[in-house]
Amino acid sequence: MRFKADEIASVLEREISQYREQVQAREVGRVLEVGDGIARVYGLSQAMAGEMLEFTRTKVRGLAFNLEENSVGVIILGEYQEIAEGDEVRATGALLQVPVGEALIGRVVDPLGKPLDGKGPVVTSQYRPVESRAPGVAERQPVDVPLQTGIKAIDAMTPIGRGQRELIIGDRKTGKTAIAVDTIVNQRDSGVICVYIAIGQKESTTAKVVEGLRNAGAMDYTIVVMAGSSTPAPLQYVAPYAGCAMAEYFMYEQGRDTLCVYDDLSKQAAAYRQLSLLMRRPPGREAYPGDIFYAHSRLLERSAKLAERWVIVHADADEKKVGEDWGVNRHPDGRGVVYVGPHDKEHAQKHELPNYPGHKLVKVATSGGSLTALPLIETLEGEVSAYIPTNVISITDGQIYLQPDLFNAGIRPAIDVGISVSRVGGKAQIPAMKQVAGSLRLDLANFRELEAFAQLGTELDKATQAQLDRGYRMVEILKQPQYQPLNVVDEVLIIYAGSKGFLDKVPVKQVQAWEEQFLRFMHEQRADVHKDLAQSRRLTPEIEERLKAAITAFQPQFKPTSEGPLRRAEKKEGTAGVAAQPLPAQAGAAQKAPAH
Ligand SMILES: Nc1ncnc2c1ncn2[C@@H]1O[C@H](COP(=O)(O)OP(=O)(O)OP(=O)(O)O)[C@@H](O)[C@H]1O
Ligand SMILES: [Mg+2]
Repeated sequence: MRFKADEIASVLEREISQYREQVQAREVGRVLEVGDGIARVYGLSQAMAGEMLEFTRTKVRGLAFNLEENSVGVIILGEYQEIAEGDEVRATGALLQVPVGEALIGRVVDPLGKPLDGKGPVVTSQYRPVESRAPGVAERQPVDVPLQTGIKAIDAMTPIGRGQRELIIGDRKTGKTAIAVDTIVNQRDSGVICVYIAIGQKESTTAKVVEGLRNAGAMDYTIVVMAGSSTPAPLQYVAPYAGCAMAEYFMYEQGRDTLCVYDDLSKQAAAYRQLSLLMRRPPGREAYPGDIFYAHSRLLERSAKLAERWVIVHADADEKKVGEDWGVNRHPDGRGVVYVGPHDKEHAQKHELPNYPGHKLVKVATSGGSLTALPLIETLEGEVSAYIPTNVISITDGQIYLQPDLFNAGIRPAIDVGISVSRVGGKAQIPAMKQVAGSLRLDLANFRELEAFAQLGTELDKATQAQLDRGYRMVEILKQPQYQPLNVVDEVLIIYAGSKGFLDKVPVKQVQAWEEQFLRFMHEQRADVHKDLAQSRRLTPEIEERLKAAITAFQPQFKPTSEGPLRRAEKKEGTAGVAAQPLPAQAGAAQKAPAH
């Protein structure tokens, strides 16, 4: 074979002109000054905001935080004591990311995904950026599935839906963490993946939480991200975003429901303030930087109920694997048709599916995930109008407000019913709960008002006294010990019994015992009612009749006892070395029960 010289030349020329240098250039800078968890670095003129940097000698990572004219302000994600002036810093060209995936479940990790539980490395090949864009309106759909907390007072009066953001706010030691942890414990059979993010908490407190979760079997579906109070501020600041990214993996890539607990955001705000002041960003109200609102809003906006996407597929298609482009009907350009959200789905069901006999409408497996956020905020002396509390209240879809007075009076969880709200969760409540809880909030508010009167010692008419008696019993029913979340059907049963007056004759001190024995009775001897209610999810007249009959049958079987479950739980706590709290029956205004 003969070559023509000019042909070879032209091929070579083309190759040369198409040659792209494969060598990657990375900028290198030098540390100008370092201290308090931050460093100022010279020479990284191309660095992006939020870019991950590496201190070459110590292998510690940093985050480009402030891009200034001659230098870059870097927050150091790790030990900064070792870093010295003049050290080399490399840009990585990537935004900060954390390992995500199944391997993290059951683990306790730091905000960069490094294990803290001594159980070996976290083996995963998947990563997600710590900061990511929140889904837009078109990608979301309204909240419609409940996230059962297992706490009677919350599921009845401030219900939470999957994808909602519900703030838990209260002074120190009012049971904020307890509510969040009980909610995680209650997800055992719901398939929700939970991420508990401890920010600025005492290590001993977090260790206790992890132990509690482990004992309850909740670590099987929970990731704990920990940035304790001794962790440098940069990691405390990054922790909630990192934990959120770990949950997002399950929401976006597996279409699963997830729950993030941020315990607590006031500590994160303080860490952010510290960093910002060190970086000489101008202080604003309460010395927080001007963008503290944005720091919290961009975090909480990432919680969402993603729109479900539906496609029409052959009747024998595997529902667990259905993908975006499996639709049998096609757009003119060849793409499969996808129906997005409940409206489209209904349309498809009614008008499209009938055109395809032998087909079914199936949800795309990775669509429709959700991320529910439970941020916690600690207030000082009940001051909800301070800067950070008002910010977070305005970002979330409702708040559960905890009162130290109630807590000390033994009303636990110490939820202040009057100012706690859930703005969207009601839509997700199961119908049976809606039916029984409808008037509960009003009744309790009325009761509190009357109670104030009753304390004046005036003679009360019969109707008022009856209302008061009912109130005392409802307050008693809404009490619940820690680590004992209830099934939603049990919640409906006991609230029904209380609000229909079946406990009016039971002495207030015996209400807890009555509840315990009644629920056992329903499980053991009236399992059919329980099952039917769980199935129909609503109190049909027929089920209601059977329930009434069951309660009437139970009444004579009730054995008064001096030990309710709450007291037992407290006794146990007392021996476990936790400060013993006053017994519910001894303390507090609401406890000045009428004589029986
Ligand atoms: N429902 C409950 N029944 C009995 N005890 C409870 C209940 N909820 C919380 N406690 C107890 O109250 C104490 C404080 O609870 P917790 O740590 O949850 O409060 P917190 O508001 O998170 O406190 P901190 O401000 O320290 O974070 C704990 O000892 C806990 O065991
Ligand atoms: Mg706490």
